[in-house]
Amino acid sequence: MQRVVCPGSFDPATNGHLDIIGRACGLYDEVVVAVLINITKHSLFTVDERVDMLREVTKGYGNVRVERFHGLLVDFCAANGITAVVKGLRAVSDFEYEMQMAQMNYRLAKVETLFMTTNPLYSFLSSSLVKEIAKYGGDVSELVPELVLSQLQGRLASELPDGEPHRVG
Ligand code: PNS
Repeated sequence: MQRVVCPGSFDPATNGHLDIIGRACGLYDEVVVAVLINITKHSLFTVDERVDMLREVTKGYGNVRVERFHGLLVDFCAANGITAVVKGLRAVSDFEYEMQMAQMNYRLAKVETLFMTTNPLYSFLSSSLVKEIAKYGGDVSELVPELVLSQLQGRLASELPDGEPHRVG
């Protein structure tokens, strides 16, 4: 059984994440989507919310498991019988940091990292930009799954003071 992990913050999951997860599903027996529990980083969605959304939007694939993790990714891999990480590479700007993490994960525990080039449709896409655009009323309806769009609408509507734009789709 070839099992890989797609790790990340997923705050929230975008169509770019789903593209990588879906393509990994076609290559490996099982894809574990691992949501980082990072208490020091301010997140728009709680870890539970992110996990729930990911489970819903990936349920059609059939070979995806969504989990949460804290601490080192290599420890999560060891505990779950995972020998490789699958990551999307959007642009050259991603490369330096991703290569550093990949080399460190290999150095720490011989965990391999496999990079997939992002679909050009999503090469500009990030969770941070989605949140920023949505916050100021931009249309992100083609950038995130429908479920994420509705959760974003609800969350931003409840977070923003009256009078601020909060149209997200
Ligand atoms: O979506 P993100 O925030 O870019 O994902 C980053 C993530 C979760 C893949 C990375 O921060 C990570 O692996 N964190 C776990 C802690 C760890 O193992 N750090 C050492 C990396 S070499």
